[in-house]
Parts: sequence; C-alpha cells; structure tokens
Amino acid sequence: MSSVATTSVSPRYGSTAKWLHWSIAGLVVLQFGIALLMPDIGPHTVASTLINLHFSFGVLILVLMAVRFGNRLRHPVPLDMPGSPAWERRAAHVTQLAFYFILLVGPFLGWASASAHKLSVDVFGLVTLPAIAAPRAHWALTAGDIHIYLMWILAALIALHVAAALYHHFLRHDGVLRRMLPTGE
Ligand code: HEM
Ligand code: HEM
Repeated sequence: MSSVATTSVSPRYGSTAKWLHWSIAGLVVLQFGIALLMPDIGPHTVASTLINLHFSFGVLILVLMAVRFGNRLRHPVPLDMPGSPAWERRAAHVTQLAFYFILLVGPFLGWASASAHKLSVDVFGLVTLPAIAAPRAHWALTAGDIHIYLMWILAALIALHVAAALYHHFLRHDGVLRRMLPTGE
C-alpha cells in the first residue's frame, strides 16, 4: 500500500486558518488588556482573578497557536503581495515568523515565571498545570523578564502588521487583506 502525500501548497487561506487567525488576534488583544490591568507579579503576590485569567487565556492562546502551526505545516500558503518590493515581502516574512516564535515560546517563559513566583497555573478552573521551575529559580525569574520584553515586541509588530494590512487595502487596493477575511477568496 502506498501512502498519499497530504501536504499541498494552496494559493489561499482555508477556513480553519482564517478562523484561527481572527480568534487568536482577538484573544491576544484581550490578553494585553488583562496584562495591563493585573497587579505586578512580585515575591509576595497572591493569585487573583486577573492573574488567573492571564494564565488561562495565555495557555489557550498557546494551544490554539500549536494547532495553527500544525495546520500551517500541512497546508502551506505562500505570501502573496502583488507588486510589492522585495524588502516589503521580507518584512512580512520576518514579522510572521516572529509571531509564531513569540506566541509559541513566550507563554512558556511566563509559565516558568509563574512557577518561580509560586503561583499555580489553573486553566479556567478546569485543569492545573504542573510547576516547571523551582520557587525563586533565578533562570525562571529572568525568563519572566524576557516574557515581558517579547510581549511588548509582539505589540509593536502587531501595530506594524495592522498598519501594513490597512495600507494594502486602502492605498494599494490589492487583495492582501481580502484573502484573510472570512468572506474573501
Ligand atoms: C501568549 C499570550 C501572552 C501574552 C500576550 C502575555 C503578555 C504579558 C505582558 C504584556 C506582561 C507584562 C505585564 C506588565 O507589564 O505589567 C506579562 C506578564 C506576565 N505574564 Fe504573560 N502573556 C502571555 C501568556 C502568559 C502565560 C501562558 C503565562 C503563565 C502561564 C503568563 C504569565 C505571566 C507572568 C508570571 C507575568 C509577570 C512576569 C514577571 O514579572 O516576571 N503569561 N504577560
Ligand atoms: C492581533 C494579533 C495578530 C496576529 C498575532 C496576527 C498574525 C498573523 C500571522 C502569523 C499571519 C500569517 C498567516 C498565517 O500563518 O496564518 C497573518 C496574516 C495576515 N494578517 Fe494577521 N495577525 C493579527 C492581527 C491582524 C489584524 C488586526 C489584521 C487586519 C487589520 C490582520 C491582517 C492580516 C492579513 C491581511 C494577513 C494575510 C497576509 C498574507 O499572507 O497575504 N492581522 N497574521
């Protein structure tokens, strides 16, 4: 019996890719709101609703990103920016790679910091994840700092990404934004 290759390069995003793009985008914006409102996490911080929500939504984003990554590997979609110069295509590639990297690695750094601060990661009251760092572990406290830096880099890249999408739509009038819309082709 011969096996059939399942990987195919498609010129457009499928409905799963679009659904994941927009739900993750919404959750990431919500997550920044929660991060700004939650108390600073220090040596004597005790769990609160906002901190638990930050951990829960962070884990949900991580799980959805893992599904998205798998889906992207099985259904690659080439970047399509008609008439754009090479540097714009390069910037778009680097930004999209950075999104995957930060949203797949960054949550683990936050999780390590939570463990180092003796805060348990209770996901929506459904499941409690194990600690991945010892209390006060130096590396995990540093991981927490890196988590914060990475997430603010992410916020800047999102601003750039949104500005680029709007520029393509309203000034260039090409199909770049339409191809990611639920109704677009
Ligand atoms: C991918 C989604 C996530 C985003 C966008 C995000 C964003 C942020 C931001 C912006 C801050 C800084 C808040 C401030 O400056 O006051 C922060 C802090 C923090 N986040 Fe996240 N986070 C995410 C996922 C997680 C996860 C999954 C966990 C734990 C399971 C977590 C745990 C923490 C902790 C412990 C801090 C404080 C770090 C420290 O002071 O050492 N985050 N997060
Ligand atoms: C807020 C968080 C967001 C993140 C993390 C994000 C991330 C991504 C990523 C990783 C891709 C590459 C395609 C893929 O692998 O699925 C992408 C494509 C795209 N995004 Fe976003 N996005 C966000 C918000 C937005 C918003 C608000 C808009 C529109 C205003 C937008 C418009 C687009 C468009 C048009 C594409 C398709 C580009 C192309 O391949 O031609 N994104 N986004």
